[in-house]
Amino acid sequence: VSDPAWSAVDEYLAGHLLSDDEALTAALANNKAQGLPPIDVSAVQGKLLHLLARMAGARRVLEVGTLGGFSTIWLARALPEGGKVVTLELEARNAKVARENVDRAAVGDKVEILVGPAKDSLAAMQPGDPFDFVFIDADKQSNAHYVQEAIRLGRPGTTIIVDNVVRDGGVIDAGSTNAQIVGTRRMFELLAKEGRLDATAIQMVGAKGWDGFVLALVL
Ligand code: DHB
Ligand code: MG
Repeated sequence: VSDPAWSAVDEYLAGHLLSDDEALTAALANNKAQGLPPIDVSAVQGKLLHLLARMAGARRVLEVGTLGGFSTIWLARALPEGGKVVTLELEARNAKVARENVDRAAVGDKVEILVGPAKDSLAAMQPGDPFDFVFIDADKQSNAHYVQEAIRLGRPGTTIIVDNVVRDGGVIDAGSTNAQIVGTRRMFELLAKEGRLDATAIQMVGAKGWDGFVLALVL
């Protein structure tokens, strides 16, 4: 589902609220040149993540799903000196592109990219130096697991954001056999009964179509 007006409004909003951004423009061009799919968050969504991380006073950010590092750059820019984004990427070739992009954006020293299945990278992490902010944007099949890991690796007050939780309205299709929809619905079932979280979700339309974010707070 898409509407040209949604993209036009995104462009209007970005034109007023976002500066021309050489590093982000270059990152998207590099992604395209190297064949990465254009499934990054939109520019206004990237800035939303950036502002939410700043509002949360985040120093340590966990990102599940790096792709080419577009959202990684937005998140890294939200951090104070000494802050860190630990970002998990399945594909080594995506991670290589992301490394180029974050370095060009001059946030490379704030970004650690772990290559391999996110489940494995997460399983190897010990709680202790908790994440303040978690952005989940990887294989939707595993979203419930990723939320549980975000709670384990967070602390009371940690912010959790999950991308792509509406999927053109597909989330309400109880009979769906699409693994991504099934995974997203499993995540909502978890959120409904998980006492360690308080959560909401918002639908969005824009350059990326009709989709949404979950926003959750670890209690
Ligand atoms: C897809 C994944 C995303 O994270 C997204 O924002 C849009 C699309 C996908 O796998 O198709
Ligand atoms: Mg996404």
